[in-house]
Amino acid sequence: MSRENNLALEAQHLTKIYKRGAEEIVAVDDVSLTVRKGEFVSFIGPSGSGKTTLINILGCLDNTTSGSLKISGETVFSENKCLSESDLTKIRRQVFGYIFQKFYLVPTLTVYENVLLPFAFFKKAEANADPMEILRFLGIDKRTSHRPSELSGGEMQRVAIARALINKPEILLADEPTGNLDSKRSVEIGEILKRLNEKEGLTVLLVTHNPALAGIAHRTISLHDGKIA
Ligand SMILES: Nc1ncnc2c1ncn2[C@@H]1O[C@H](COP(=O)(O)OP(=O)(O)O)[C@@H](O)[C@H]1O
Ligand SMILES: [Mg+2]
Repeated sequence: MSRENNLALEAQHLTKIYKRGAEEIVAVDDVSLTVRKGEFVSFIGPSGSGKTTLINILGCLDNTTSGSLKISGETVFSENKCLSESDLTKIRRQVFGYIFQKFYLVPTLTVYENVLLPFAFFKKAEANADPMEILRFLGIDKRTSHRPSELSGGEMQRVAIARALINKPEILLADEPTGNLDSKRSVEIGEILKRLNEKEGLTVLLVTHNPALAGIAHRTISLHDGKIA
């Protein structure tokens, strides 16, 4: 296997500038980083330091002003190339699972239906994970027919994690996944991410304010004013 294939992602000189009228905000400032397959990396830094912008770029959810990005050796964008929107959509569906601070569960659907929600938008029958196996792994298999309003915050986040896992992603992106949870539930979510990394070999990118949570990663990257500190 070539060295490149051991890299989950490789980012070079990423810069993202937002323009608000005449004002320019450099949200990500010349960031280069590589993440190996199976690595668990956390991102920490004050509010406004560019964590969300960076992780969204790495997760192909946002574009950049300049720089290049490769996922598993494939160029997503560079100075002279950018994947088409349909190829980007494919990467988002096949490579990534996304978890956010807000759970984004559909209140009228059951736990089971929320987990299967991605299939309402696309089919990928062969590669799908078994929903019940995931729900058991996450300890919410007794909750399949409940609605989100009947769950605790920690349970809701576990449903959101189950939904992110249903496509068997290679890379899990979690942006402040415990931001709405108390410290006990935060530890539980951290343990789940760690188990997914160790037992399932998932590459995990975790953004968090919580230094204790960041500490469970193999490596912590600190951001300040859009730069790696
Ligand atoms: N859509 C946007 N338009 C303009 N500025 C933005 C936008 N999103 C983020 N920013 C700015 O970019 C900087 C980095 O934001 P963000 O990536 O959300 O940081 P963090 O996640 O670390 O709190 C901040 O100054 C923020 O105000
Ligand atoms: Mg953020």
